[in-house]
Amino acid sequence: MWIRDNPGPRTLSMRRGSDKVECEVPLDTKSADRDNKNGDLIIVTIMDPVLIVGAGIVGLTLGQALKQKNIPFEIFERDETPDARGQGWAITLHWALEYMHKMLPQDTLKRIQDVQVDPDVALNDNGNFLFINLETGEPKYKIPPSVRWRVNREKVRRALLHGIEDHVHWGRRVVGVILPENKTKVQLVFADETTLTGRLAIGVEGSRSMVRQILRPDAFDNVPVGINFTGVAVDLTSTEIKSLRDMDPLLFQGCHPPTGAFFWFSMLETPKVNGTAGTDAERYRAQICMSWPENTPEDKVADTDEARLANMKRRAEGFVPFLQQAVERIPAGTAVTEIKLADWECLEWDNQDGRVTLAGDAAHAMTMYRGEAANHGLLDAYHLSEAIEKIYGGSSLASDAINEFETEMRERTSRAVRLSRQACRDAHDWTRLDETSAILTKRAIVGK
Ligand SMILES: Cc1cc2nc3c(=O)[nH]c(=O)nc-3n(C[C@H](O)[C@H](O)[C@H](O)COP(=O)(O)OP(=O)(O)OC[C@H]3O[C@@H](n4cnc5c(N)ncnc54)[C@H](O)[C@@H]3O)c2cc1C
Ligand SMILES: *[C@@H]1O[C@H](CO)[C@@H](O)[C@H](O)[C@H]1NC(C)=O
Ligand SMILES: *[C@@H]1O[C@H](CO)[C@@H](O)[C@H](O)[C@H]1NC(C)=O
Ligand SMILES: *[C@@H]1O[C@H](CO)[C@@H](O)[C@H](O)[C@H]1NC(C)=O
Repeated sequence: MWIRDNPGPRTLSMRRGSDKVECEVPLDTKSADRDNKNGDLIIVTIMDPVLIVGAGIVGLTLGQALKQKNIPFEIFERDETPDARGQGWAITLHWALEYMHKMLPQDTLKRIQDVQVDPDVALNDNGNFLFINLETGEPKYKIPPSVRWRVNREKVRRALLHGIEDHVHWGRRVVGVILPENKTKVQLVFADETTLTGRLAIGVEGSRSMVRQILRPDAFDNVPVGINFTGVAVDLTSTEIKSLRDMDPLLFQGCHPPTGAFFWFSMLETPKVNGTAGTDAERYRAQICMSWPENTPEDKVADTDEARLANMKRRAEGFVPFLQQAVERIPAGTAVTEIKLADWECLEWDNQDGRVTLAGDAAHAMTMYRGEAANHGLLDAYHLSEAIEKIYGGSSLASDAINEFETEMRERTSRAVRLSRQACRDAHDWTRLDETSAILTKRAIVGK
């Protein structure tokens, strides 16, 4: 058992019987900064840790899984604090729940379960996957649910921090990766020009991944899918939201047959969560999004919130009255966010003898029309933690374990990326929406 021997708030331990190596590890952000200003390196004798770039859902889950396996890891996040982001959006955890149960301790799972957007619906979720005709309000598809947790993404991130806070370093933007001659080492370079050595580096820093750019400098860019997307978050009274919640209390989507416009309603926060339940100011918070194919210059997303909102209202003309009202009611001055719909098919890369790899959106950016990107990322974390365990336990060469991980991920997610792209296109073309549409194809975990 090796203990960090310099004074500092944190002690690191390593697994009995593993190699000891030397590395310069400014592990605590604050003391690291101080030490680096003095030009000193902290010398720690310890097994090189796994270096995780990005504290999103996938990076944090991977950290949790490694903690359970007693494998040293450190997570570096560019955000200054856990609360640096706004409220964010809601995502559905469905087929990945099974793997989350395998990777996360009970109390962390409980914390995630507790940040479902509507605790009352969560108790007895009769929701469907609901796709409607926006002109008539008639359901086109209604698929009975499997177990799902509809959760707030930012709150899940906070729940996932529990128990690994000391390993997550905020305000640490990674700008480069160095591959030393010794093929069992890799170094991260930070924005402040400090470096840190580890056994392997995992890029889980989202769809605009810097590590992806290093691995595929020729082809790292996401490919636009030709559809433009804007959305807002709005506060609604129980009267205003009733007709939307009657359709489905958590989310539903639909297509407007004459124009191909797509609409998406998603609950973000109920009065119970918001603390306004039972008061005069009872408020629901919901997300209303629309997307449309880009065919003419008018289809471009405008620069101002005002023009973006006017565009949404114009496209909602001809929707069934309760939906048109929902869009019409969005107050002037509401921030209208554009989401760039583009994807990346998990192309090949050289993992440098198993020293650098990707997972989550960094490895496979997909549009959200099948709502499964995070589920795939969580499954990546599961397989990757198993691969890393083999490397640290000495039962597998790093290159073999990481190749095996990547092969499974690439086969599974390149298919998912293509299906999501097709689902995105189908969602904007009423004539393409039949039983074979990618919107409906089973959210299969297997590749090909
Ligand atoms: C509107 C919407 C709805 C969605 N709905 C669903 C759904 O229902 N179901 C589903 O499964 N998926 C859904 N998704 C997809 C899901 O949100 C993503 O797949 C998931 O959040 C990806 O997690 P991640 O950890 O890979 O990346 P991210 O969540 O993007 O996290 C990456 C982290 O890395 C940090 N970072 C970036 N660059 C650096 C750097 N250079 N150095 C250090 N840190 C860095 C970022 O700040 C961020 O915290 C939806 C997406 C959207 C946009
Ligand atoms: C590479 O680093 C490992 C771990 O520190 C060490 O055991 C090994 O001897 C080094 N190999 C070379 C060729 O220096
Ligand atoms: C709209 O979509 C097109 C096609 O994906 C894309 O090129 C464009 O950047 C999008 N956004 C704007 C602001 O036009
Ligand atoms: C609840 O929602 C209202 C309206 O959006 C907001 O002003 C208030 O801050 C919210 N309260 C909490 C606890 O989030």
